[in-house]
Amino acid sequence: MSAVLYERNGSCAIIRVNHPPVNVLSHAVRAGIVGMLERAIADPKVDGIVLAATGRTFIAGADITEFNKPASFSEPTIWNVIKAVEDCRKPVVAAIHGTALGGGLEIAMACHARVAVASAKVGLPEVQLGILPGAGGTQRTPRLTGPEFAIDFITKGNPITAHDALKVGLVDEIVDDLILGAVARAEAITNGPLPTKVIDRQDRVSGYDADFFRTAKTKVAAISRGAEAPLAIIECIKAACTLPPLEGLAFEKAEVQRLLAGQDHAALKHYFFAEREARKIDSIPEAAQPVRKIAVIGAGTMGSGIAMACANAGFPVSLIDIDEANLSRGRASIDKNYAVSVSRGSSSQAKVDAAIALIEYQVGYGKLQGVDLVIEAVYEDLELKKRVFAQLDAAADPDAILATNTSSLDIDAIARATNRPEKVVGMHFFAPANVMRLLENVRGSLVAPETVAVAMAVGRALGKVTVLAGNCDGFIGNRMVRFYMDTADFLLEAGISPGRIDKVATDFGMPIGPLTMWDMVGLDTGVLLRKPRRAAAVPGDRMSPILERMVAAGRLGQKVGRGFYAYDGREKRVDPEALALIADVVRERGAEPMELSDEDIRDRLFMPLVNEGANELLDGTALRAGDIDVVWVNGYGFPAHKGGPMWWGHSVGLDRIVALAARLAQENGPRWAPSPLLLDRSRSAW
Ligand code: 3HC
Repeated sequence: MSAVLYERNGSCAIIRVNHPPVNVLSHAVRAGIVGMLERAIADPKVDGIVLAATGRTFIAGADITEFNKPASFSEPTIWNVIKAVEDCRKPVVAAIHGTALGGGLEIAMACHARVAVASAKVGLPEVQLGILPGAGGTQRTPRLTGPEFAIDFITKGNPITAHDALKVGLVDEIVDDLILGAVARAEAITNGPLPTKVIDRQDRVSGYDADFFRTAKTKVAAISRGAEAPLAIIECIKAACTLPPLEGLAFEKAEVQRLLAGQDHAALKHYFFAEREARKIDSIPEAAQPVRKIAVIGAGTMGSGIAMACANAGFPVSLIDIDEANLSRGRASIDKNYAVSVSRGSSSQAKVDAAIALIEYQVGYGKLQGVDLVIEAVYEDLELKKRVFAQLDAAADPDAILATNTSSLDIDAIARATNRPEKVVGMHFFAPANVMRLLENVRGSLVAPETVAVAMAVGRALGKVTVLAGNCDGFIGNRMVRFYMDTADFLLEAGISPGRIDKVATDFGMPIGPLTMWDMVGLDTGVLLRKPRRAAAVPGDRMSPILERMVAAGRLGQKVGRGFYAYDGREKRVDPEALALIADVVRERGAEPMELSDEDIRDRLFMPLVNEGANELLDGTALRAGDIDVVWVNGYGFPAHKGGPMWWGHSVGLDRIVALAARLAQENGPRWAPSPLLLDRSRSAW
C-alpha cells in the first residue's frame, strides 16, 4: 500500500498521506509527499493542491522511532518537504482532521492556507519529547499568532481545538466537508496572487525587545522544573522576532539538533513509549466486557473525584453512601468543583451540565441493578472494606465487577469476602481523581484475566494513563514512596534542615519536596500509615520518631498551620519551633550530624526508589521498568524529563545505586539492602 495517495478533484490535486496508524512522517511519507507535489506541479490540469490524510488523523508528526537514526536524515528530510510545499508555485492547502501535531502542523504552516473540521486539534508537542518544533515551528507559529501565544503554546505542548486555532490564526477556516472546503479554498487562492509565505511575514513578530523575552524566560523557567527545551524554545522564538527568516530557521535547526543529542530527549522518548507500552498486557483478552454504568461507593473526596472522572468520560454513574449527610457533602463538593472549572475556563458550561446530568446520588446499596462496575472508595480499613464487599456482592448483578480503590491493602483478602473473587480487582486512583492522570490497576491472585481487561479498558476510556500492578503492600507507587519519605526523616536526623531537603528535591525537578508533602498530606495521616509498618518491622529496621513527635506537639501540617513549616494560608516559612523539635530528636539519638553535599542528599532521596523498583520487577509487582516510571511521573510528579526513577537509575549508573543501598542497609536496616536484581548483573539491564 502506498504511503501517499494522489487523486484529482476538478482542477485540484488531492495528496493524501496514508500511513496508519497515525500518519507519521516516516521516510516513505516524506518521499511520497515530495513526489506527489512534483506530479501535481507537472500536471497542466492542476491549479491547486490539497494536502490531506486518510484514517483517523492528519499527520501526527515526525516518526519518533527514526530520531537520531540514519532514516531521519535521509533525503527528503522534513526540511526538504517543507521547502517543497512552501516554494510550490501552485497553492497548497492543508486539510486537517484528527490531530495535526509536530511536523504535521509544521508542514501545514508552510502551506498557503489551512482548513480544518471542527473536531480537529493542532499542537506542537515536541517539548514533551525534550525537543522543539525544529522544522520551522518556532519560526512560523509566532508569525501567524504573535510571540505571546507562540511561547505559551510551544513551551507547554498541549494541542488546541480547531476553533481556538482559528481564533489565534493557526488555521484560516473551519469547514464541514473537509475536502470540498479545502478545494474551494485552493480555488479561491488560484484566482489571485499567491499569499506571502508565512516565513516571510513580519507584521506579527516586529517590535519585541530583549526584556520581553527575558520576562518570558523567567516565567517559563519557574514552571519547567529544570527541563532544557522550554528555554531553548523561547530563544528560537526570539530568533524569529529578531533575525532574518533564514537565520532564524538555521538557529532553530541547530537548537533542535543540540536537544536531540541531550539526556532530556532520551528520557522523554523513553517515557513516550513507556506510557504506550504500559497498556499492553499479554495475559488478558483484547476485548473487554462492556461497561455501561458505574457505581462509586463512598462520597468522600476520593469517591466524589472518581464519580466526576467517570461522568466526564460519559459514563452514567451512581455515587452511593450509607450516610445521607456524607452524600450531600459529596454532592456539594462536586457541584463546587464543576463551578470552579467553568469559572476558570478549563471546562464549558455545556460539558459540565452534561457530566452533572450523568451523576445520580443514592443512599445505601439498594439499587445496584444494571451496574457493570462498582468502584469502592470507603475509608482505608481492611475490615471495613471486607464488610462493604460482602454487601456489594449480595446487592450487585452476578456479572458485575467489584473494584477497590485501596492504595495499599491486600486485594485477595478483600476478594475473599465475596463469592466472586474472580471479579474483584484493584483500581487505585490518585487524588484528586478527576484531575490526576494515573490509574494503578491491581491484579490479585484470584482475579480472572477478563476482569483485569475491563479495568484496563475503563482506565483508557477515562482518559487515564493506566498501569497494571501486582498485589503487595503499597503496589508499585506507594511501596516505593515509603523509602522516599523515610529518607526525608533520616536526613532530618542527620542534621539537614527541612528547607534544604525540600530544595534538593525541587531542584531535581519534583513539584514539591518530601517535607512539604508531609505537611500537605497531614503528619497525623503519616503516623497512621506507618503504624502497621512499625508493628511489622523486622529487627534492625530503623524508623524515625520525628513524625510522631511532631504530631504529639500538635504539628499536624498545613491544615493546622504548623508542621515541618509554619503557614499563613498557603505561604510557608521556616519555623524555629519545628527546628527545635527536630534538634531534640537528633540530640536524643546521639549520632553525629552528617556532612552531606546536595548531590549526596539527592542520591539518598532518589536512589532507594530505584532499588525498591528493582525488587518490584523481581517479584512481579511491576511488569516492566517503564511501568514504574509511568507511575512515578504521573502519580508522584517525578520529572518526566528524567524519564522516571528506573530510567534515571540507569543513567546515573546501577553500580552507584548498589553501593548506596549497601551503605543505607548498614545505617537503616535490611529493608534498604541492594536488590538481588541489581546484584545479578546479568539480569539488571532493564
Ligand atoms: N512516531 C512514531 N510512532 C508514533 C508516533 C510518532 N510521532 N505517534 C504515535 N505513534 C505510535 C504509538 O507509539 C502507537 O504505537 P503502538 O500502537 O505500537 O503502541 C501508535 O502510533 C498509536 O498511537 P497512540 O496509541 O498514542 O494513539 P492515540 O490515538 O491514543 O493518539 C496521537 C494519537 C494523538 C497522534 C498520539 O499518538 C500522539 O500524541 N503522538 C505523538 C505525536 C507527537 O509527539 N508528534 C510530534 C513528533 S516530533 C516532531 O514532529 C518533530 C518535528 O518538529 C521535526
